[in-house]
Amino acid sequence: MTAIIEVSHLVKMFGDHAAVNDVSLSVEKGEVFGLLGPNGAGKSTTIKMLTTLLSPSSGRASVNGFDIVQQTTAVRHSLGYVPQALSADGNLTGFENLLIFAKLYDVPRAIRTQRINEVLSYVGLLDVGKQLVRTYSGGMIRRLEVAQSLLHQPSVLFLDEPTVGLDPIARQAIWDHLMDLRADSNMTIFVTTHSMEEADSLCTRIGIMHRGQIAVIGTPAELKANIGIENATLDDVFVHYAGDALESGGSYREASRARRTARRLG
Ligand SMILES: Nc1ncnc2c1ncn2[C@@H]1O[C@H](COP(=O)(O)OP(=O)(O)OP(=O)(O)O)[C@@H](O)[C@H]1O
Ligand SMILES: [Mg+2]
Repeated sequence: MTAIIEVSHLVKMFGDHAAVNDVSLSVEKGEVFGLLGPNGAGKSTTIKMLTTLLSPSSGRASVNGFDIVQQTTAVRHSLGYVPQALSADGNLTGFENLLIFAKLYDVPRAIRTQRINEVLSYVGLLDVGKQLVRTYSGGMIRRLEVAQSLLHQPSVLFLDEPTVGLDPIARQAIWDHLMDLRADSNMTIFVTTHSMEEADSLCTRIGIMHRGQIAVIGTPAELKANIGIENATLDDVFVHYAGDALESGGSYREASRARRTARRLG
């Protein structure tokens, strides 16, 4: 087994606030690693450091064997990144958006059009490639952004909440594409999501992040088996490790318990 993402004691300070506080983890090639945690836990900050967009305050990490501080160019060539906020330009067509990124990623001019059409077709947008992105639905924009992140054939894909705000069919479409990628090219996927269902069914391993730290890492089955609740769901796991994150922590726990009871009764 080869670790393609290696993180060791990573810290990011904003002023005197440790947004990421001593995070260590490793992800093997071909895994779908899910980073879960409440709002403000430090998930996006972790991804931004691993993608070289933010420099760490201390600690080390490597992606595809390259150090995120010393070898930023090689790291950037190794990865694709889909940011949390929608980033495609609505005043350009899908094709034009991809062309900008093809140039940015140094895709050779001779194969740019071919590569763009390949990724458009991969995410099912070839038919609408010539339309302005502002005519796309949220799910189509997200698929375009996934396409964008694949132009330079990266070995690791970082996705920050790829399915937030999408309807169930659009979510499924995104995940189908990601699972195809993994099957076709053994792509390693590092993803954050607030959907416990998605994480449970699609991630090979999950890390739960809370207040800048990793509370626990394991397969979905391990996590559910280890919290002392019969027939635990990943919701239960989340509440177990991060349930005190909300000011109304107590009521969140109660709400979750009530839902669980309702489910058993239902
Ligand atoms: N550029 C910044 N300057 C100052 N503080 C920041 C900055 N970026 C993030 N933070 C803070 O760092 C903490 C972690 O934020 P981060 O965006 O990593 O959380 P997250 O886990 O991605 O949350 P969410 O689920 O809401 O996306 C938060 O307290 C946030 O306010
Ligand atoms: Mg975030």
